[in-house]
Amino acid sequence: MKEKKELQNTAKEFIEKSEKICALTGAGISAESGIPTFRGKEGLWNKYDPTELATPQAFQRDPKLVWEWYNWRREKIASVYPNSGHLALKKLEDLRGKDFVIITQNVDGLHNRVCNKNVLEIHGNIWKVKCTECGGEDFNYEVPLKEIPPRCPRCGGLLRPGVVWFGESLPYDVMAEVEEWLRKCNAMLVIGTSGVVQPAASFAFVAKHNDAKVIEINLEPTPISEIADVSIFGKAGEILPEIIDQIQD
Ligand code: OAD
Repeated sequence: MKEKKELQNTAKEFIEKSEKICALTGAGISAESGIPTFRGKEGLWNKYDPTELATPQAFQRDPKLVWEWYNWRREKIASVYPNSGHLALKKLEDLRGKDFVIITQNVDGLHNRVCNKNVLEIHGNIWKVKCTECGGEDFNYEVPLKEIPPRCPRCGGLLRPGVVWFGESLPYDVMAEVEEWLRKCNAMLVIGTSGVVQPAASFAFVAKHNDAKVIEINLEPTPISEIADVSIFGKAGEILPEIIDQIQD
């Protein structure tokens, strides 16, 4: 097996040679901030059954229960800070500007908190709320929520979290941009995702098919490892700065 330093150097060279770069992030990039991943030992899914909570049916059945779970997650996210992995991706955006994009499955908004501008949130954002009556959308940063379930300030209708639930389609406008990036990127970093939830699980395969180099960073092998040009196993918060700090402008 190749030395980690050598793998990181290969990743750095792929990035340097690429004009357009994508980073696909999952829960693993926020793990070092203290947000539990979905499927790890301490995973969010271990305490709660997602099929009970992250579906439109669950919300219809018991909006209060679903909102209590989101309120708990919002409190958790509000109490943590972005980590060195998020900061390294901000540095990459500073180096490459509009030629770099983050496609994230995370709803925690931590990429925005380090001021990355080019972020495609395919599963929505936990700080967004959407009215089930009038369709109005707002950002709501109240922690904890004063009223559960919260109501629309405009029409009094029931608000829902501005996230994508199981069984729902991904936002059309965001997906159109994602598809364009999957066509044009020359390198894709795949960071901290288990690669089992579609359609994000297929993004690396599509990018690879379009000749992009795939660089994976994860604690352990995933289905993406099979097609990755380089897989580096370790913490994103350590590996990303080690690679990105070496990149020449
Ligand atoms: P998962 O919890 O499925 O996977 C997290 C991945 O991060 C695992 O492969 C871990 O090995 C890896 N990981 C953990 N800590 C890490 C670290 N410090 N550095 C690098 N890697 C680390 O999370 P996602 O793949 O993001 O969807 O899950 C995808 C989607 O499933 C979520 O967006 C959510 C969930 O259902 C919806 O809510 C619609």
